[in-house]
Amino acid sequence: MSDPAVPTPSADARTAAVLTIDGPSGSGKGTISRLIASRLGWHYLDSGALYRGVGVAASWAGLDLADPAALVRCAFDAQIRFEDAADGELRVIVNGVDATDELRTETAGAAASAIAAVPEVRSALKERQRAFRRPPGLVADGRDMGTVIFPDAAFKVFLTASPDERAERRYKQLKDKGVSVIFDDLLREILARDARDANRAVAPLRPADDAVCIDTTGLGIDTVVERVLALVT
Ligand code: C5P
Repeated sequence: MSDPAVPTPSADARTAAVLTIDGPSGSGKGTISRLIASRLGWHYLDSGALYRGVGVAASWAGLDLADPAALVRCAFDAQIRFEDAADGELRVIVNGVDATDELRTETAGAAASAIAAVPEVRSALKERQRAFRRPPGLVADGRDMGTVIFPDAAFKVFLTASPDERAERRYKQLKDKGVSVIFDDLLREILARDARDANRAVAPLRPADDAVCIDTTGLGIDTVVERVLALVT
């Protein structure tokens, strides 16, 4: 099934440069990808927000997360838009409602991870993700950007960091947004989500064979940005 909402891309769009940045939760890929996209003046795809958006739309509609057919319909039907807010944040609008804050919670992450393991949901979102590829280039962040969605990307990076540091980063991020969380719970949830993402049958979390792997444990954001930019420029 193809998505009627996604226009057929032009030849220029199909061949535009792509930098894929994959990795587990809390590896810093969202922050790093946004900064790099802005430095290069390229477009940005937060593919996790699409999965989170479908999860939230499914939960608003009271759908059963164990019903693949309903989830696939939801993946095709959910209107998910990204808007650059004045504060530099990326707002995510789901079915006309600003769902940015709800999407950030670990509950939304866990729901996204559950539906992301359904092969038909992944296929339903394929074209939508590829439609983000446009000149002058795209930075795409996720789990399978380099392996499945943009296997022909010219530049591929896989970011990792120790589980403690990843949980610490997510903890700070959520705290800054005013979301109250218990560190040990967060660490456990992140490890469970990573295990499910890495062990699922379709598009598991893993570096592409031609990806450059960077362990960001103990590295500052600027250092990682410069290392990745050095691969592209
Ligand atoms: O990146 P983020 O934490 O927002 O992603 C939420 C969940 O969506 C991940 O845990 C993963 O299960 C799923 N996801 C995926 N493939 C992607 C991006 C996200 O399976 N390309």
